[in-house]
Amino acid sequence: MLDLLIHNATLPDGRTNMSVAVQAGRITEVTQGLQAPAHEVIDAQGMLLCPPFVDAHFHMDATLSYGLPRVNQSGTLLEGIALWGELKPLLTQDALVERALAYCDWAVGRGLLAIRSHVDICDPTLLAVQALLHVKKQVAPYIDLQLVAFPQDGVLRAPGALDNLKRALAMGVDVVGGIPHFERTYAQGTESVKLLCELAASQGKLVDMHCDESDDPQSRHIETLAFEAQRLGLQGRVTGSHLTSMHSMDNYYVSKLLAVMAEAQVSVVANPLINITLQGRHDSYPKRRGMTRVPEQIAAGLTVAFGQDCAMDPWYSLGSGDMLEVAHMGLHVAQMTSQAAMRQCFEAVTTAPARIMQLHGYGLEPGCHADFVLLHARDPIEAIRLRATRLKVFRRGKCIAQMPAAVARLDLPGRPGETGFMAVQP
Ligand code: FE2
Repeated sequence: MLDLLIHNATLPDGRTNMSVAVQAGRITEVTQGLQAPAHEVIDAQGMLLCPPFVDAHFHMDATLSYGLPRVNQSGTLLEGIALWGELKPLLTQDALVERALAYCDWAVGRGLLAIRSHVDICDPTLLAVQALLHVKKQVAPYIDLQLVAFPQDGVLRAPGALDNLKRALAMGVDVVGGIPHFERTYAQGTESVKLLCELAASQGKLVDMHCDESDDPQSRHIETLAFEAQRLGLQGRVTGSHLTSMHSMDNYYVSKLLAVMAEAQVSVVANPLINITLQGRHDSYPKRRGMTRVPEQIAAGLTVAFGQDCAMDPWYSLGSGDMLEVAHMGLHVAQMTSQAAMRQCFEAVTTAPARIMQLHGYGLEPGCHADFVLLHARDPIEAIRLRATRLKVFRRGKCIAQMPAAVARLDLPGRPGETGFMAVQP
């Protein structure tokens, strides 16, 4: 007897009328029209069943702090950084945990069941690290939370940051972070990439750096990051986050850089909501978009994810844990409007970040964890268009969140009824 059998689902690869069988928290079979006894049977009614959303770039130590101690009035990066400086001395572990847990509730409601969060390690008490390690343990039954030791003020620039970072890793933080473009000089940025990659290699850790988050085409730390990944045998274990300077680089240089990145198997996380608002701020008109070159990176064979980065924090007043909103923005900013590219935008918030986080048992194959989301949409493109309602969210075969379909009841002359904003079937 199966624990759960889902009928009549559409899968992200386009297969329809699919059945997904679940036993003991794992998917046991994915096939068309399966008949088998099960404790629970769900008719998906042709809707899209996808693996959970994954956010490979977030800052959970700052999330939901909107308004503390005041609102970012200008909405700029500089005021955001100043605000974070004002907020840091006021942080308490209890408040951090409470806000992070509240965000994780939002995430589950949105079918977002894996998050890589950077955590600022520049505070010598490592208060945020302790808080998020506690949260990681608490949410483990329903969210895979991976933490990155992030030296927000520069690992060489901020006094004691390297020591704090090493202590954070010893406490159980999973990934080595960095911010080379924020070090005092370009040379120091290069040195920071080298020493952080060496640290990761020596401890068997993954690397994920905020890298070249600027409009300066000369900000080329990604080249060093790819070189170090190659030199230290870290292929497939290194991620460059943001990489916005690539937007402004010379095309000839980028053609060489993409090949170097592909050789080192460096992955990319673009953060469209944040970078469309923060980049290009020194431009008059025309204003650069400032997002990294996503279609070209995918074409070069790189794994590219879209991250949310921030939700209701000093840098960004919006956001709600909705990775379809992130994909929607990424699609527009990168002009990824072809049929294939729109599907790649869906992959950029599901399978691509799962690869970056090296999540085991992720996917809709037999043997994978029975973690999936039933959406009120018939395919990935419709899911992005509608930022579709997560009708049901499953973890290890159990429904852990549900939401009614977004349907408007209409009272129109001669056209009573309702609309769910779905495409008219041809
Ligand atoms: Fe970030």
